[in-house]
Amino acid sequence: VKIGIVGTGIVGTTLGDKLVSLGHEVVMGSRSAGNEKAVAWAAAAGERAGEGSFADAAAFAEEVVVNAAAGSASLEALGQAGAANLSGKILIDVANPLDFSAGFPPTLTVSNTDSLGEQIQREFPRTKVVKAFNTMTALVMVQPSLVPGSHVVFVAGNDAGAKTTVGGLIESFGWQRESIIDLGDISASRGLEMFLTLWVRLYAMFDRAPFNIAVPCA
Ligand SMILES: NC(=O)c1ccc[n+]([C@@H]2O[C@H](COP(=O)([O-])OP(=O)(O)OC[C@H]3O[C@@H](n4cnc5c(N)ncnc54)[C@H](OP(=O)(O)O)[C@@H]3O)[C@@H](O)[C@H]2O)c1
Repeated sequence: VKIGIVGTGIVGTTLGDKLVSLGHEVVMGSRSAGNEKAVAWAAAAGERAGEGSFADAAAFAEEVVVNAAAGSASLEALGQAGAANLSGKILIDVANPLDFSAGFPPTLTVSNTDSLGEQIQREFPRTKVVKAFNTMTALVMVQPSLVPGSHVVFVAGNDAGAKTTVGGLIESFGWQRESIIDLGDISASRGLEMFLTLWVRLYAMFDRAPFNIAVPCA
């Protein structure tokens, strides 16, 4: 399947590598085609990988686009990707609205009564936004066995069919179906994003990023 990735950071390259290894074709987008990181990634990832602008990546996608842009820049990046290129497609939103302008720990640019996931869904009403993967470090997204024991990945979004499609993709990454928790509509992004205020403290305490949430329920 042809998939577009908006973003050239560690999330973009990690998801890109996994998707290419699973046989998908991936175009990674950045603010301008020819971005050094995107070019290097595409060269290393092989013939099923390409690069271009955010708009090139979104236009390339048949059904699924990934938002792996910085949270504080996601609306801008997706605007550059273009509403028409995102229309009718699923947007897997991995971004966290972190504001590092005052140092560590970061604050959230939006929270409590709204979220980045909802802002994106409002801005692109013809796109099916599915929040997923934002609660864990990039490597765990594609290699859940890195974290011992059972642990979970959350999905949230307004379109049930889109969540089924994203769930299938998540399973193909090595997640058990019972480890995928559907939290309902896109407003569940609030809690998923506010978790980051705890995530960054856990990260500071462990001094390493591969940890995740387990949800035992009696
Ligand atoms: N790092 C993790 O393990 C992790 C885990 C879960 C969720 N997340 C979230 O996933 C997203 C990606 O994280 P990341 O660490 O891979 O990368 P990042 O450094 O947060 O973001 C890099 C991307 O943001 C774009 N960008 C930055 N400023 C921009 C602007 N003003 N306008 C348009 N685009 C802009 C960059 O464009 P260019 O390509 O043009 O430079 C680049 O593609 C973030 O929202 C992050 O919070 C990260």
